[in-house]
Amino acid sequence: MSFDRPVYLDYQATTPVDPDVLAAMEPFWREAFGNPHSRTHEYGWEAENAVDLAREQVALALGARSDAVVFTSGATEANNLAILGAARARKGERRHVITFASEHPCVLGAVEALGREGFRTTVLPVDAEGFPDLNRLEDAIGDDTALVSVMAANNEIGTIAPLEAIVRLCRRHGAWLHTDIAQAAGKIPFAFDELGVDMASVSGHKIYGPMGIGALLTAEGVRLDPIMKGGGQEGGLRPGTLAVPLCVGLGAALEKAASLMEEEAARTAALRDRLLTALSEIFPDLQLNGPRRNRLPGNLNFRLPGVNSDELLLALKDAAISTGSACSSADRKPSHVLAAIGLDGQAISESVRLSVGRFTTDEDMDRVIDCLRHDVREAFA
Ligand SMILES: Cc1ncc(COP(=O)(O)O)c(C=O)c1O
Repeated sequence: MSFDRPVYLDYQATTPVDPDVLAAMEPFWREAFGNPHSRTHEYGWEAENAVDLAREQVALALGARSDAVVFTSGATEANNLAILGAARARKGERRHVITFASEHPCVLGAVEALGREGFRTTVLPVDAEGFPDLNRLEDAIGDDTALVSVMAANNEIGTIAPLEAIVRLCRRHGAWLHTDIAQAAGKIPFAFDELGVDMASVSGHKIYGPMGIGALLTAEGVRLDPIMKGGGQEGGLRPGTLAVPLCVGLGAALEKAASLMEEEAARTAALRDRLLTALSEIFPDLQLNGPRRNRLPGNLNFRLPGVNSDELLLALKDAAISTGSACSSADRKPSHVLAAIGLDGQAISESVRLSVGRFTTDEDMDRVIDCLRHDVREAFA
């Protein structure tokens, strides 16, 4: 990374496209530009083959059958399709939906919309580290529950949910389980069929693929009411011409992420821990937000009591980081995730999120730690 720009430490907001992914996509912007739904000539066949391969790559990387994959414009759309689509499809038999307070706004928004449609909705608390409260889930779930939606890993504090236990609870009551794996995919092991979840949403731009593409995985037996009406693409679940270069990018990105996962998780966790150690030495009263165990490898979220995060960001000028979460901070509201783990307004305003990733180097960390030791300590310690 060049020195004329700050070190990028916001990999949970978005990731740069991996050069191999870019190379895989390139022909599909140029000569292989066909419509994958054109059945009468080789331009169409070529594009269709590329989409088929991408579908297989997505499925293989996430442990699903390739016919489970529905391409969408991203995890926001996949989450909406899963939640609105499943609840509406089951509304004749079941009218209750459950989610958790630390979910992404697109999940909470979809559940809220179902409430306005007459569904009973329950938003359950998480504990002080962001783990879903399973006792409360056990009390809330019933034979009227159509759907439970819980994220596999949190985008702000990195908490990894105990999905196996939640699958068991859902199975017992016939509720479908949807999980948002936008932050987990390619970073921690996830096997869709083996785990037995009913739906999972993934996003391209969190895993070194392009923005504007994602997918929803659906298990056999899951029925969905499509949100959009149109042609019969994606089994009628997501009509519209598929964005071939983006599908190719998602497939290539997930394939590469799966092959690098173990080594990358170890490397990013080590870089993150180095940063946390340095920070704790410089600021002994640092408070970690989120768990010490069962946490996404590259994620760090902390607060320095008495130091406003906007001022910290100004002083830490050698790093590009975020307060709260960039995916939901367009409206600059205080983080609902930090509120869900019990932080008050003051503590939230002192919190920052850092995330390291594939292209973060030891030298990047040296530079950021240097900036912390000098500029930041001078300003606040
Ligand atoms: C957990 C989580 N879910 C959903 C999304 C939305 O994904 P997309 O940008 O692909 O719509 C994000 C990030 O933006 C996220 O972190």
